[in-house]
Amino acid sequence: MIVVNSVALRQPRSDDLAGFCKIRRDREMQDQLMAVVQDTDENAVADWIARKASSKDLTFLVVSDTASEQFLGYVQISSIHRESSSGYVGIAILKEKRALGIGYKALAALHSYAKLKLRLFKLILLVRADNLPANKLYTNIGYRRVGFLEKHYPRDNSRVDVFVYECIL
Ligand SMILES: CC(C)(COP(=O)(O)OP(=O)(O)OC[C@H]1O[C@@H](n2cnc3c(N)ncnc32)[C@H](O)[C@@H]1OP(=O)(O)O)[C@@H](O)C(=O)NCCC(=O)NCCS
Repeated sequence: MIVVNSVALRQPRSDDLAGFCKIRRDREMQDQLMAVVQDTDENAVADWIARKASSKDLTFLVVSDTASEQFLGYVQISSIHRESSSGYVGIAILKEKRALGIGYKALAALHSYAKLKLRLFKLILLVRADNLPANKLYTNIGYRRVGFLEKHYPRDNSRVDVFVYECIL
């Protein structure tokens, strides 16, 4: 377990399923994550968690309250590339727990884990330009905007721009 004050990162547990279902069933949130989700029944969500947990180039951790161990969301580092010591960050925090600094603490903990345990040199991420809280969070914690993907993500018969960020650990 990695702890930053009131927020801890830990391995997923079976009692996290309801929290994961909430996130997978939230269309607005999936759209912010630029994810396409088909099935959201409990079995499909459990399969999704199992696929993540068994993937070799992926770190997938639950964000939880340090004291109560309550599920607050998740963080991941995907496409971990050993030669370049880099990977792609993803984060999702339950709607009712946002703007409390949980995302910041979860990323701070993930950065420690990435540097000390995974020996990564840098983290990269893609985020919709119109996702203001996420852009704020990444800038606050030290990511630098290094790229711009024009009209990258299709949305409502249009396409939205996407920013590329990186953070040297
Ligand atoms: C992005 C996300 C992880 C942030 O989590 P969080 O726990 O709310 O993060 P924090 O509270 O640490 O920081 C959020 C920042 O955004 C700010 N913010 C919140 N709503 C905002 C808005 N509508 N416009 C601009 N800034 C906003 C907060 O004030 C805070 O900045 P501050 O600390 O300088 O005040 C969360 O909103 C989320 O899960 N979103 C859906 C999934 C997603 O978009 N993931 C990222 C995709 S790349």
